[in-house]
Amino acid sequence: MHPPLPALIDPFARPITYLRVSVTDRCDFRCVYCMAEHMQFLPKADLLTLEELDRLCTAFIGLGVRKLRITGGEPLVRRGIMGFFRNVARHLGQGLDELTLTTNGSQLARHAAELAEIGVRRVNVSLDTLDPDKFAAITRWGRLPQVLDGVRAATAAGLRVKINAVALKGVNDAELFDLVRWCGDEGHDLTFIEVMPMGEMGEENRLDQYWPLSDLRAQLAERFTLIDLAERTGGPARYVKLAETGQKIGFITPLTHNFCESCNRVRVTCTGELFMCLGQEDNADLRAPLRASPDDAALEQTIRAAIARKPKGHDFDYSRQKVDGQMTRHMSHTGG
Ligand code: GTP
Ligand code: 5AD
Ligand code: SF4
Repeated sequence: MHPPLPALIDPFARPITYLRVSVTDRCDFRCVYCMAEHMQFLPKADLLTLEELDRLCTAFIGLGVRKLRITGGEPLVRRGIMGFFRNVARHLGQGLDELTLTTNGSQLARHAAELAEIGVRRVNVSLDTLDPDKFAAITRWGRLPQVLDGVRAATAAGLRVKINAVALKGVNDAELFDLVRWCGDEGHDLTFIEVMPMGEMGEENRLDQYWPLSDLRAQLAERFTLIDLAERTGGPARYVKLAETGQKIGFITPLTHNFCESCNRVRVTCTGELFMCLGQEDNADLRAPLRASPDDAALEQTIRAAIARKPKGHDFDYSRQKVDGQMTRHMSHTGG
């Protein structure tokens, strides 16, 4: 057994307890705000193997990470991924409090029961619209019924489902109450996300689509009584309860209300780049120390050195009618 190691604390006294791991850059969808239509995917040799990913997660858990979220691209399209989940789940209750994933739902019908059996308790499913035509337009390659089947399978398997909807003006704004009603009826939590400037997209398009959650919240408050909740899920969302239905609605507001001061997370890409902030370029290569030695000393040293330079926050800003803080990498690179 390891002696207990000092926890990872960044320069702003934030304990890092949440690791997001992207296991693939590939996806079976091409959401317009996340990927280009014709993406160049990485050669396989660049990817961390599932064994390396397991070693990396284990090292982070040894350094105090208690929550692990598997992302992509679409994590469930990586071959062998269920074996990886099964292996990592050995840490549950042994340092790890939660093992979960963010998925587009396309493969959930096949995998939900096994995920639940392994110890996953809830999944976040990205779903911006319930209109099949709009869904096809947003995801380019996705089909709504397949995702709805996946969500049903997850619920049937006993997984809690949180629906993530990126708030997009002119796309899903007219559907606000339909989305809320459907989630209420089905028993899903629902979180809205402000669209962030990740990946190239015309500045005008981004600004045209931006729907501040302060507006969305005001619209909700016209029909429902919103009760602020203190409870957190460990991520950036702040939640309200709708008094009339009892359902929970979350808001992720990088633009209208910066939450970086309470940031507890870092992310690793499928090639082993450790990004200390979603909205900054600085990163550390973990693949080299992973491959250089079967011993984890160099890996842990690299992780600590990187956390010691975690930046204060992102620079996303759309005020003054222009896009600031733009990241050239796509959201699929870091998995959100
Ligand atoms: P919970 O465990 O349910 O709290 O999930 P989560 O919000 O941590 O994870 P999820 O994958 O559902 O994240 C939703 C989205 O929130 C991400 O895809 C990002 O778009 C955004 N997000 C998560 N963490 C950060 C962050 O540190 N900074 C910014 N700007 N956005 C973030
Ligand atoms: N801004 C905000 N959220 C985004 N996502 C993908 N791209 C963006 C963006 N540019 C969301 C997806 C998914 C999560 C992983 O990130 O919809 O819910
Ligand atoms: Fe795929 Fe998710 Fe990106 Fe859409 S948001 S292209 S589903 S990785």
